[in-house]
Amino acid sequence: MDRIVIRGGRRLSGRIPISGAKNAALTLLPCALLTDQPLTLRNLPRLADVDGFGHLLNGMGVSTAIAGGSPAEFGRAMTLTADRITSTTAPYDMVRKMRASILVLGPLIARAGEATVSLPGGCAIGNRPIDLHLKAMEALGARIEIASGYVRAIAPDGGLRGGRIAFPVVSVGATENALMAASLANGESVIDNAAREPEIVDLCECLMAMGAEIEGIGGERIVVHGKPSLHGADYAVMPDRIEAGSYACAAAITGGSLELAGARADDMAAIIDALGEAGLVVEAMDGGLRVTGDGRLKPLTLSTAPFPAFPTDMQAQFMAMLALADGASVLTETIFENRYMHVPELARMGADVQTRGRVAVVRGVAGLTGAEVMATDLRASMSLVLAGLAAEGETRVHRVYHLDRGYERLEEKLSAVGADIEREADG
Ligand code: EPZ
Repeated sequence: MDRIVIRGGRRLSGRIPISGAKNAALTLLPCALLTDQPLTLRNLPRLADVDGFGHLLNGMGVSTAIAGGSPAEFGRAMTLTADRITSTTAPYDMVRKMRASILVLGPLIARAGEATVSLPGGCAIGNRPIDLHLKAMEALGARIEIASGYVRAIAPDGGLRGGRIAFPVVSVGATENALMAASLANGESVIDNAAREPEIVDLCECLMAMGAEIEGIGGERIVVHGKPSLHGADYAVMPDRIEAGSYACAAAITGGSLELAGARADDMAAIIDALGEAGLVVEAMDGGLRVTGDGRLKPLTLSTAPFPAFPTDMQAQFMAMLALADGASVLTETIFENRYMHVPELARMGADVQTRGRVAVVRGVAGLTGAEVMATDLRASMSLVLAGLAAEGETRVHRVYHLDRGYERLEEKLSAVGADIEREADG
């Protein structure tokens, strides 16, 4: 295992290239299962989860070929071909490590008529059930059984049928499984209360490039006219709005100025609004955003919610930044029941945060001090790195494999804009 060592107190300044979006890549990769022709995905981030998903697909008979992308470049292209599916099982040891593996469910039922997928189990930020995914598959005619920790799903003879899916709560993953399955169902499907995240739009655009017919993209009601088959495509993954938001917080917490090259402002309106309210200057510039902090930050009252509201994936990063604000902030995490794992670690660096259920009160302090801290989940790890960038002295973040799941070459990108940060073997 590795650790990251940061010596804080340096204002960051310069250009950070934003990589392809992890949460878009993880729903585009399983689209390869929907066709027997090659699907080429470009601008794929070099992340552990992307590699893991490739291995999961290889186990199903999907060939994956990395095209181009010298080590010096960020991102790369991958061509995936599922001309024959040799296994329809997503095993426990893969799913428990990466919950997004559940996104093979819809494509496998739609293309191969069956799927056997391990139940994901819980994770650090909550128990994260998949009931909405299963209800969506049943609405398309699939028969679902659960036994020995696995979901067994079987399409009716003749394949999935178009149906009506009304989600009681917004679910990004369940919307993604529904879209992929419906694209090959017989007839029309209507998805109500669909997730509206930009990653959902990216998925719809990719499916359309593969020949799917989808109306209402980006809205809460999506209509899919199923096709007998889809063809291959060549598609570039959208830029990562959460990575961009995380580095915007790095500019904020160090009082620096960063150009986030490739960031798409339209995907980040709620994040940009919150940054502005906290006193940062955010300017759209050609092909990206410039974010400039100028000293003390203003406190905020923030509630996470589905897109277009403030994203839960930015809560931990904003908490680190607001730990140094001029006053008390109130954060409410409405999506996951246990997404405050970063709080005790930030407290060890001097942050003053009180949590009660889903609410966290963050009282700004004059400064943070470096400490040994433990990463627990992806975004919590980033909040510790951000705190380390501003803290007096040295911060050591252990278990950085969490970070490697969602931030491509983080220490390289931060070093290039002036951070004193390095990765070390951690025993
Ligand atoms: C996606 O997770 C993202 N992951 C998460 O990002 C993100 O936090 C989340 O959406 C919310 O935006 C990927 O895209 C790979 P949900 P997902 O289904 O699809 C409950 C990161 O840091 N729910 O929208 O799993 C669930 O428990 C990760 O990049 C059910 O009850 O999230 C949660 O409370 C973390 N039943 C809420 O819905 C279900 O069947 C939203 O979950 C499914 C979900």
